[in-house]
Amino acid sequence: MSKIKNCRFCNDELNQFMSFGKMPIANAFITEQEIESEYFFELAPSFCPSCALFQLIEQPDPKMLFHENYAFFAGTSILMQKHFEDLSNKIIEYYDLKPNDLTVEIGNNDGGMVEYLKNKGFNHVGVDPSKNVADAASRKGVNMLNEFFNKETAARIKKEYGEAKIFLAANTLAHIPDINSVFEGIDELLTEDGLFITEDPYLVNLLEKTSYDQIYDEHVFIFNLTAMNNVCKQYDLEVFDVEYLNTAGGSLRYYICRNGKYPQTERLSQCKEKEQTINFYSYKTYMLFKENCEKSKNNLVSLLKKIKNDKATIAGYGATSKSTTIFNYCDIGPELIDYITDTTLTKINKLSPGKHIPIYDYKYFLSNMPEYCYLLAWNHKVEIMEKEKNNYSGKWVTHIPGVKIFE
Ligand code: TYD
Repeated sequence: MSKIKNCRFCNDELNQFMSFGKMPIANAFITEQEIESEYFFELAPSFCPSCALFQLIEQPDPKMLFHENYAFFAGTSILMQKHFEDLSNKIIEYYDLKPNDLTVEIGNNDGGMVEYLKNKGFNHVGVDPSKNVADAASRKGVNMLNEFFNKETAARIKKEYGEAKIFLAANTLAHIPDINSVFEGIDELLTEDGLFITEDPYLVNLLEKTSYDQIYDEHVFIFNLTAMNNVCKQYDLEVFDVEYLNTAGGSLRYYICRNGKYPQTERLSQCKEKEQTINFYSYKTYMLFKENCEKSKNNLVSLLKKIKNDKATIAGYGATSKSTTIFNYCDIGPELIDYITDTTLTKINKLSPGKHIPIYDYKYFLSNMPEYCYLLAWNHKVEIMEKEKNNYSGKWVTHIPGVKIFE
């Protein structure tokens, strides 16, 4: 796919403020034989000075990202499952969901919130373009459509199941380049008093933590409330509430309705106020982020080199998509990281994208404990620390919120 010059939402000219260089597909874990045909694109973020949408200037064709071999199975994190179960219960209670009310979830992966709703007998449909995960959800009895969501999908759902009282997207909206097609679909499908609830990594967290590794091909957008409001306005929708979340490295959940249908909350006003202190329309904001990324990169490479000079072993913990950005931007390969451990079957015994660090299963980790573990899955820190407190006695390396070693 070629680079774009104009905003995917409002079509005004974008400002590119940095480049992370050539990047492979973040979730494309490969075999030795596939190295030669590995696909690269330029990972470079930009912002729209008109609508404040933070977006990539180039994204590989979504069909290359979401397909029959999609590597991410949401079921790998217990805390994330609990997080989604909590939201599905909240929807039932707060919004007084009736069994016949339809809930549609896009990007519901191998189950999602609609799986919990299904288990409780609620009307639901999941929509996911990646065949392997959509099939896994179908096998659990979730009503699934294995396709990309847009206005046409919405019209078909409406015909077959009726209008949606609840429309859900968790870590999905940021993945879809044609943002207008999703909003057109929501406009088509949502009941007059319907709710659109969406959550994604939050740009404010990303800028504050310098978590540049949240920038990778799938995240074509990193949202903030300012930009989300601008998009909603176009479709006579409005954000009436927001919720800060610790998930996915710091996310914002947006509660959206048709104009004036729900009262705006105090939390929303506070978030708006906070965002007014950051100028999302200005180059300066992003130049500071760029400088912080360079500092983080230099500190990380120095630290890993120092550890290696002392002849210690370093394993990466969690073959995350995020780590593809880190390793390729910082030029870190098997000379610094001995191996990466991960519990996902589709990643085990493959090589990391671009830098080709071997990925081994958890058993290997338990019998080949490294002296240092680089916490690549830092978004699951609480869960991982709990799991490893009696197993692993070595040191941890992190780059969030700053590069450091911790015990
Ligand atoms: P994820 O949170 O999806 O991050 P990203 O969006 O950057 O890919 O990925 C977490 C990865 O870490 C996933 O491959 C599973 C792995 N993982 C473990 O190996 N062990 C664990 O205990 C946890 C929580 C995750």
